[in-house]
Amino acid sequence: MSYTFTWHGHATLQLDSGGKHILIDPYFNGNPMVKVKAGEVSADYIVVTHGHGDHLGDTIKIAKRTGALVIANAEICTWLRARGVQTHAQHLGGGFHHPFGYLKLTLALHGSSLPDGSYGGNPAGVLLTLPDGRKLYFAGDTGLFGDMALIGAEGLELAVLPIGDNFTMGPDDALRAVKLLQPKHVIPIHYNTWDLIRQDVDTWARRVQNETSALPVVLQPGGSFSD
Ligand code: NI
Ligand code: MN
Repeated sequence: MSYTFTWHGHATLQLDSGGKHILIDPYFNGNPMVKVKAGEVSADYIVVTHGHGDHLGDTIKIAKRTGALVIANAEICTWLRARGVQTHAQHLGGGFHHPFGYLKLTLALHGSSLPDGSYGGNPAGVLLTLPDGRKLYFAGDTGLFGDMALIGAEGLELAVLPIGDNFTMGPDDALRAVKLLQPKHVIPIHYNTWDLIRQDVDTWARRVQNETSALPVVLQPGGSFSD
């Protein structure tokens, strides 16, 4: 079974697999990189890695319009349910067989407060095992951590990593992450949205090519990768 991964810009991701549309961190409106409006996207599922505004984004609006089920940690799900959104709560280390694959929330070193200051639990990454067994890892916002080696030991087709620095791993730590994760393909995100996280992605991709066994895939905002 093939999948298509789309990077809308910043950390706004879309996965199309098995006829399902899965949005991850759907920050569309107000996102300087994104060319699509929240009112135009399709979604069957929405995964929210943490409560920050550039990740929670337009979750409520899109979920209400499409009826998408939102998958996030229990704290974010409780907050969303109080706002009329259908949710499926999981927590770090816990996986569940959804129709599009087995989704496990993983450790992320970051914060997770919600836009109104509510406690958003622990931030997460996402490890998704597709029905054909291939594994895709979306790190979320995180600093480098050594247990990425445990995630890599599962055998990754694809890793999607932040490289912007300041709020998350920068290029050097993201390169070390690639060495721990050893994915077949790696896609950089969470950079160039604002000056604060501006990075030279081509130089980073060349280093990945030269110093690791992974194949870097640099997308333009709105660009897709299929495999
Ligand atoms: Ni964040
Ligand atoms: Mn962020």
